[in-house]
Amino acid sequence: MRHLISPLDFSVEELDKLLELAGDIEKNPEKYSEICKGKKLATLFYEPSTRTRLSFEAAMLNLGGQVLGFSEATSSSAAKGESVADTIQVISCYADICAMRHPKEGAALVASRNARIPVINAGDGGHQHPTQTLTDLLTVKSLKGELGNMTIGLCGDLKFGRTVHSLINSLLRYENVKFLLISPKELRVPDYIIENIEEAGAEYEEVTKLEDVIGELDLLYMTRVQRERFFNEEDYIRLKDSFILDRAKMKLAKDDMLVLHPLPRVNEISVEVDSDPRAVYFKQAQYGVYVRMALILTLLEVEV
Ligand code: NCD
Repeated sequence: MRHLISPLDFSVEELDKLLELAGDIEKNPEKYSEICKGKKLATLFYEPSTRTRLSFEAAMLNLGGQVLGFSEATSSSAAKGESVADTIQVISCYADICAMRHPKEGAALVASRNARIPVINAGDGGHQHPTQTLTDLLTVKSLKGELGNMTIGLCGDLKFGRTVHSLINSLLRYENVKFLLISPKELRVPDYIIENIEEAGAEYEEVTKLEDVIGELDLLYMTRVQRERFFNEEDYIRLKDSFILDRAKMKLAKDDMLVLHPLPRVNEISVEVDSDPRAVYFKQAQYGVYVRMALILTLLEVEV
């Protein structure tokens, strides 16, 4: 049985197949509309979410399956002290596959070790967010045509932003990707990610100003400052508006630079940027449904 805990759980070839399947789903949705009839997806969300949980649910419903689950820890038995290991054993009796989001790093891994159904990590603390990465990769592949040969700027909270960690680890497997890591010093990418970049021999630079490098980028991945992972509110308030992408900064960018954001946005992208054709973050959310449909089919080993 397969799980998706880290974005590297799939080989590059498997990932290619998954993205191809997602592309076919986008083009021929009706072909897949009954394919998971009788199957159930459980969404176990111990942390807030809009897109990830609802896109998982939409994905399973689009496949003709059903969904069950909870959207906050307080409404589950976690509030009574039940362990993740116990919960997942019970959920294995009720559902065929599950997506779990948890504030603790490693929670999905623990779940997968105790599960009798495939477990998908839908975000574990500040660690990883592999299905957001699948979404990001599908967006880039669909809109740029390839995953290598680009300069990507990752901007914002690179310390606590789990989507950033997963995306960097994944893009390191492609040729000729240069990383510009744009953050205040306090929110730098963790050292273990820098080590991964160095080991892979990829080019990177850490900078503190977006406007200094925006003109070089093929892709700009904006992120919000992760308030819930800060230890004190003062630091959050000091750092929260470190970067704001607005029309003036977009003028400095290439004509075909894409702007991605996992969302939710707070202040880091001014709404005036939304109408710029290079802003693709809402399209990205749509790709998230296709890729999660492809993932469910792959992990359930459904013949397509
Ligand atoms: C991200 C997350 O939960 O890490 N959201 C998402 O799933 N699209 C990004 C964020 O919360 O900032």
